[in-house]
Amino acid sequence: MTDNSPTGPARGVRLFDDVRADEADRAYLPGMSRAWLMPWYDVQSRLRRADRLHRTTVELAGISPGQHVLDVGCGTGNLLLAVLRATPDVVATGLDPDGAALRRAARKARRRGFGRRGDVTLVRGFADRLPAADSSQDHVVSSLALHHVPMDEKRRFAAELVRVLRPGGLVTIADLDAPHDHGHDGHGDAHGRVHGHGSRHRHEIGQHQHREDNADGGIERLLTDAGLADAREARRATFMDTPVLWVQARRP
Ligand SMILES: C[S@@+](CC[C@H](N)C(=O)[O-])C[C@H]1O[C@@H](n2cnc3c(N)ncnc32)[C@H](O)[C@@H]1O
Repeated sequence: MTDNSPTGPARGVRLFDDVRADEADRAYLPGMSRAWLMPWYDVQSRLRRADRLHRTTVELAGISPGQHVLDVGCGTGNLLLAVLRATPDVVATGLDPDGAALRRAARKARRRGFGRRGDVTLVRGFADRLPAADSSQDHVVSSLALHHVPMDEKRRFAAELVRVLRPGGLVTIADLDAPHDHGHDGHGDAHGRVHGHGSRHRHEIGQHQHREDNADGGIERLLTDAGLADAREARRATFMDTPVLWVQARRP
């Protein structure tokens, strides 16, 4: 990780560590549940045809050249790269607490030549403190990350959306729908584990992901309660037997 400013003017693909010393032990649920499985994330993602989910997210967001786009929970960068493929001239920022995933995202972005025309910044940090100035983002996007985030942090994330989106700016969230019984995971047993930085601080602080928060319009409620307007389910689909929904809202 380098120490570039996350809001600086430089072009290229930059890595920035925005985790404060008092957050070093903060727990999070990595993409593959366990940090050491991260290298397999993209393999699994390909097998599950997650590219279709990312393309749908990009299509729904409707991003224009020159716009500022922030991907929250970007992991290995698959949604951010889909954004850049569709609109290479954006100012793109990806946020994730997983440094190894971000380094992989940076390698992929450089290999594909992104950052030459636009600006790509990858920031290590958490969803409840977004690395963007007030009213600076035209779009915030997020895919398959919200169910990794506990409700109190999600509320702070929603408040951050109101802060960083410009008036009229759009948030587009793709996430797993709640399991039918709303009370248990249903998406693989390994997701019960939560990690701190790397795998040194492993805690089991939850028996399941936070998918149940998405039940019965949970994401729309979260966004509306924070002050965003027109929160609505934009689409719903099933990937590999897993129901996924897309929710959008605007900053008034
Ligand atoms: C299933 S992966 C999705 C990655 C990527 N968006 C995609 O569609 O391939 C979930 C991501 O959420 C990240 N995550 C977990 N807790 C988070 C938090 N508190 N704030 C932001 N991201 C978080 C994980 O590190 C992981 O990279």
